[in-house]
Amino acid sequence: MRQIWIMKNGLILPCEKATISVMDYGFLYGDSVYEVMKSVEGKLFAAELHLQRLRYSAEKLGLPVPWEDGKIKAELNELANQIAVPWVYLRLVLTRGTGPFFFDPEHCEAPVRLVYGTEFIPFPPELYSRGVDLMISEFRKGPSRHDSGSVKTGNYMDHVLPRYRAQEKGFHEALMLNHAGAVTECTSANIFWFSRGELFTPDLSMGILNGVTRQLVLLAAERVGIRVQEGSFALEKLGDADEVFITSTTRDILPVRSIGEFRFRPGLDTERLMKQFLETGLG
Ligand SMILES: Cc1ncc(COP(=O)(O)O)c(C=O)c1O
Repeated sequence: MRQIWIMKNGLILPCEKATISVMDYGFLYGDSVYEVMKSVEGKLFAAELHLQRLRYSAEKLGLPVPWEDGKIKAELNELANQIAVPWVYLRLVLTRGTGPFFFDPEHCEAPVRLVYGTEFIPFPPELYSRGVDLMISEFRKGPSRHDSGSVKTGNYMDHVLPRYRAQEKGFHEALMLNHAGAVTECTSANIFWFSRGELFTPDLSMGILNGVTRQLVLLAAERVGIRVQEGSFALEKLGDADEVFITSTTRDILPVRSIGEFRFRPGLDTERLMKQFLETGLG
């Protein structure tokens, strides 16, 4: 079992010793925001983009973030150093804190800041060479409940249930469509595909998460001169795709082998993008 360390309001504890109040609004109502990040060889990966998104999510929930980015980054680095392995998985969570039992955010005490840290173990290399299988979820993704784009909150059952279902059936991930049948995203990853050398991906107005990896992929594509189309695409459009991949902090760029009846192979376009992506994220 990997040891998990927790930093709560700046104090590091082994996971078994860390506690949170049953009256914390993060626990009672999912009233919290979070970021999954990583530290690579002692350096936080894309920390600015993650903290930008954390503040965006918190603002949408009216959750104060009364700490400077510098302080948050210093704490993330401190926890990563404590774990003392080259690749560290970090989950930064901000909850509204403890409050009266019935919906009263005004009277909540100070927000709680947690960082979970553990060794980051990448997915096995054969998944990258072979590609993964995606299930087309029967759960449809509704319009975002927090306007303009999706926010990363602790209230995640809309994604957790399709993910459980996909795993039960042996799929790596579940691809969710919206009510009009357009492709949105997976439960914990964004999706892209190449068709005749052009790169396609659903745009943010589809209520998808503005993935940090997605942002870096778009930047990498621009740098190597790949044309990108962001928009609303029906599932059938994937039938024309030559290469498909999903993106997230824990996966980077992970090729897809199948989606329902459609079959794909990892190819040269994805490979070229992967190379540039790594330079873009660390540079
Ligand atoms: C719904 C959803 N989409 C996309 C992503 C990928 O985001 P990122 O690249 O920032 O990890 C995640 C990450 O967990 C997610 O939950």
